[in-house]
Amino acid sequence: MTERKPLIAGNWKMNLNLDQSTALVTSISAGIKDLSGVDVLVAPPYTNLFAVRQAIGNSGILLAAQNMHWEKEGAFTGEVSAQMVIEAGCSHVILGHSERRSLFKETDEMIDSKVMAAFLAGLKPIVCIGETLAERENGKTFEVIRNQLKGSLKYFIDKGSLPAHITLAYEPVWAIGTGRTATPEQAQEVHLFIRNWIKETFDKNTSDQIRILYGGSVKPDNASDLMSKPDIDGALVGGASLKADSFMGIIRF
Ligand code: PGA
Repeated sequence: MTERKPLIAGNWKMNLNLDQSTALVTSISAGIKDLSGVDVLVAPPYTNLFAVRQAIGNSGILLAAQNMHWEKEGAFTGEVSAQMVIEAGCSHVILGHSERRSLFKETDEMIDSKVMAAFLAGLKPIVCIGETLAERENGKTFEVIRNQLKGSLKYFIDKGSLPAHITLAYEPVWAIGTGRTATPEQAQEVHLFIRNWIKETFDKNTSDQIRILYGGSVKPDNASDLMSKPDIDGALVGGASLKADSFMGIIRF
């Protein structure tokens, strides 16, 4: 089996001003100096991307946008294209976060268009999926996950291949920002389901290589238990990524 390098990603959401953003990334780059074997990524708000990129320097921290539009350019007031995100210094982009899906009514079809546009522009997408509490309680978790995978990755399904640099993030909606984490067993069960789906839809080699992150109330004290599971390859961290000490605590899982 392929060794998958863990990825710890901080999704800052609509938090941190310019000074706080550069200060945080400066602390993280100092903190990871003697660390290897883990990829670290931050996703600041659009307006702070460029400054954070400068502050990252050559520390190796990866930079992501939290969203983007699927069109290349045009009359789309308030939107940002893949190329713009690249020019701001990003290598990655988070797509289909549950807050985008629920608050901004993004559908799997829209997410698929974004994933395709990001990929064609040369960005590496981090595609988020996850069920709500009601869906879990009604026994619909796997059905929801399968439908989100099928819908959000349609471009690659039609193409017949999924690039190994695509990252998936399983984020049960009921665990995001609630302090209620999925148990490592609950998370592993879904991660394995996702990996098997990749194997069936694409091939074993791809399913061995794709990193699947867990997200939802990841903290320094639960990170290592989650990360000990065979199909959990990293974390997408919200709240605990906003402070250097808690984010470093997770990175050093
Ligand atoms: P949380 O957010 O860590 O604050 O629960 C995770 C996310 O939304 O990516």
